[in-house]
Amino acid sequence: MLKEPLESALNEQINAELRAEYLYLSMAAYFEDEGLPGFASWMRTQSEEEHAHAMRIYDYVLDRDGRVRLEGIDAPQSSWESPQAAFKAAYDHEVMVTGLIDDLVALAREENDNATENMLQWFVAEQVEEEATAQGIIDKLRHVGDDGPGLLMIDQELGNRGAGTGSDENEAANQPE
Ligand code: FEO
Repeated sequence: MLKEPLESALNEQINAELRAEYLYLSMAAYFEDEGLPGFASWMRTQSEEEHAHAMRIYDYVLDRDGRVRLEGIDAPQSSWESPQAAFKAAYDHEVMVTGLIDDLVALAREENDNATENMLQWFVAEQVEEEATAQGIIDKLRHVGDDGPGLLMIDQELGNRGAGTGSDENEAANQPE
């Protein structure tokens, strides 16, 4: 049985993951509009990953006989100054999510809820990878700037996500049984 205040906090995290899904979908649309289909495809996959994160917590709350209560999601930003600015926003978002996960772990410990803490450890590892992936792309973009052949090369590389690039390894290795 999932007790308050963890039930509320996990519901808030479901909302945060769905907000991330919405943000990355908006970034995918921005990159499509910029004529960068590889970036767009990467963001679309990232958006789907965020949906899976939300559902992982959703299912956990149900497994613990808790109540899922969905909240509203504000409209995300729809355009950015440059690809680099979009990825900086994605990185900042991931840092914010890492903070939320850390707060949740602290709350689970306070409430002596070992099962919730154990479930959250998957997210702790995932956030390390999420931040590192976004930072790695920012670093590459800094080298090539926001224009030219270098940008198209990165676009091609990001379009290969799922074929061994991106941040899907943790996801694949930890599918719920
Ligand atoms: Fe679900 Fe990208 O954190």
